[in-house]
Amino acid sequence: MVAGTIQVEMLESDIALLTLDLPDKSANVLSVQVLDELAAALDELEEQSGLAGLIVCSGKPGTFIAGADLREFAASLDAPPEQITALCRRGQELFSRLSKGPWVSVAAIDGVCLGGGAELACWCDRRVMSDAARTQIGFPEVKLGLFPAWGGTARAPRMIGLANAIELITTGESLGTRAALAMGLADDVAPPDQLMAAAVRLVRDEQQTRRYLRDRQSWQEPVAMDETELGFLGATASAAIRQQTKGQYPAPLIALELLLEAAGCDVWQACQLEAGQMPKLFGSPINRALLNVFFLTDRIKKDRGVDGPPLATREIRSVGVIGAGIMGRGIAAANIKRGVPVVVTDASADALAAGASEILREVSYRKETGRADVDRAVELAPLLNTCRTDQELAGCDLVVEAVVENADVKRKVLQRIEPLLRGEAVLASNTSTITISSLAAGLQRPDQFCGIHFFNPVRQMQLVEVIRGRQTSDQTVATAVAYAKRVGKLPIVVHDGPGFLVNRLLFPYMNESLELVCAGVPLEQIEKAAKGFGMPMGPLTLYDVVGLDTAFYAGRTMWEAFPDRIVASPLLPAMVKAGRLGQKSGAGFFRYDPGQKQGRADPDFQVLADRYTRERREYSLEQITMRLFLPMLLEATRILQEQIVRDARDIDLGLIYGLGFPAFRGGLLFWADTEGAERILEWLRPFEGLGTRLRPTELLREMAASGGKFYQQTRRAS
Ligand code: NAI
Repeated sequence: MVAGTIQVEMLESDIALLTLDLPDKSANVLSVQVLDELAAALDELEEQSGLAGLIVCSGKPGTFIAGADLREFAASLDAPPEQITALCRRGQELFSRLSKGPWVSVAAIDGVCLGGGAELACWCDRRVMSDAARTQIGFPEVKLGLFPAWGGTARAPRMIGLANAIELITTGESLGTRAALAMGLADDVAPPDQLMAAAVRLVRDEQQTRRYLRDRQSWQEPVAMDETELGFLGATASAAIRQQTKGQYPAPLIALELLLEAAGCDVWQACQLEAGQMPKLFGSPINRALLNVFFLTDRIKKDRGVDGPPLATREIRSVGVIGAGIMGRGIAAANIKRGVPVVVTDASADALAAGASEILREVSYRKETGRADVDRAVELAPLLNTCRTDQELAGCDLVVEAVVENADVKRKVLQRIEPLLRGEAVLASNTSTITISSLAAGLQRPDQFCGIHFFNPVRQMQLVEVIRGRQTSDQTVATAVAYAKRVGKLPIVVHDGPGFLVNRLLFPYMNESLELVCAGVPLEQIEKAAKGFGMPMGPLTLYDVVGLDTAFYAGRTMWEAFPDRIVASPLLPAMVKAGRLGQKSGAGFFRYDPGQKQGRADPDFQVLADRYTRERREYSLEQITMRLFLPMLLEATRILQEQIVRDARDIDLGLIYGLGFPAFRGGLLFWADTEGAERILEWLRPFEGLGTRLRPTELLREMAASGGKFYQQTRRAS
């Protein structure tokens, strides 16, 4: 039972202040209990005589209301349609009281105001938002496979216009204060410490002008728009959504249809339509999958990386990066953006100079203008220290090695740097394939050494694998995890082993695409199957992007480690030998015209591939899909058996954030759990003759026999 979330007090003799402050939580979320409390508070406020204004605010600095209580949502996913509709109606009726009461209502918003919180704010007569960078308002429900259904789709178009509402609701993107003001979603802006004064001013203004009464009336009416305009808006929005969602996420289109249909109704009929449509999405497989992704992410945000009682982590006040190449630059920039000073070194003076200017360009880039901001570069430049000698690294709390992927070079660098560091400093490698335990050999303090594997490009990829070598201490792991979060990443802790987690799962899939090519399957069919499953690009295009040479060398580690199931395809070295290195050389599996990232079919490749084509079999798209994803799934079951991860959910999170595995499937193991192990065994049956890589593992058989779920696998103690 959550007690005392809502407090009502008098701010002035005729202005009440309603404060939401969920006890023992860092953010306010709207649960049934909170809605009950709000109803009770409104009962009293509506009865109170002589009240001119009601201001709604949050007691939590940095959050107004983060949204609905998603754990409650998850618990009612199996609810019958009538119950879902009734739940929506309840919220609509409750929030709409804010636009009917005998006072002017004002939402005073500082921090995030999202989902149900934005709906509550929208039902207020007016909104004032703080100018803090953290303040934002939006309807992210489509990201969970839903749409706002506490009156959001009914109220927003009447307040800010249909086109704006369509954009906000179907994209799920939130707005900062300035954009909200320009759109008419906010009525005023104030610094956080003057928010209340601004809200009072709004009440007083409205008391005088009584404009809110006129708006109350007009925001109940149908949206003013003629049929032609409506048709045009619908067609353009629908085309944009189809392009964005590739037909794989139904919520934005359903929301669009709802918004268009309800435009001709009054707000109360629009609310009814909204509630009536919700059962189409709530509890659907995609809604369940996207909720799972939310919980996976939330779990990692709270995970400390080690089990047991909290450990004191070492504070990372400054970071050293060795190697100013692609990764070193990205890692340095990620630190500077979060205010962490960085020392960057490189054996090559040219690489260092080029790296420094690239780092400054990246940290000073402004999205709004699409270019680097000189003032920002000047402000952040003192956080970057580039140097050719090792001495400057001595004062760093953490040093990340990001030199070339060569075990001998890396070992030499690590052994040279370690003696210079303070006793408590942490040393890490960004290696993508070399085991951490093998790099630790020769170090004096292997317990203070781990992998911190960032993904490329660092600015876009949120995932970081923190790799625990055989001797890495809990404190080092916890420190690396806390540090990765500090620089804005989602860290998963992975036990040491070839390919760690993400690359180990990527290789069976990539490898299978080569096998399919050698089985005479047309390239475009392979790409289509992967994209149809939801991957952002096909495996052959991914080879071309990564570079065939890089893939070949990285692949070698995997062939050596798992010769029973990773086939050393002759096609890769043949392509490297022929200079077909992918996009960078203008040709790989596909041909790339100068300056083009989009490849086209290349008859020359076919000539080369024909030499390695062992058979010509007809495969259906579904069979190709299974051949690509089942080896990945089987590898995931081996990873679980070997306890490479602490929790099955880490596998799903790693794939979604590290490889772009489709979120609408909820993750690889979530997908497998949804389908059931028995069905997976059936899918595998026709391919078992192809070798170990497509034969059921012990764990999969066990799951099928017991009807168990991968998500129920017990956790590994760290
Ligand atoms: P890169 O080739 O772009 O940069 C390596 C840099 O290290 C170069 O500037 C080179 O001059 C410098 N260097 C070489 N030997 C050195 C030494 N002894 N002392 C100081 N500097 C030295 O390589 P990239 O792509 O940045 O990779 C670096 C590390 O990150 C590798 O271990 C790689 O496997 C890993 N990684 C790479 C990813 C990628 O997509 N490029 C993704 C994730 C990890």
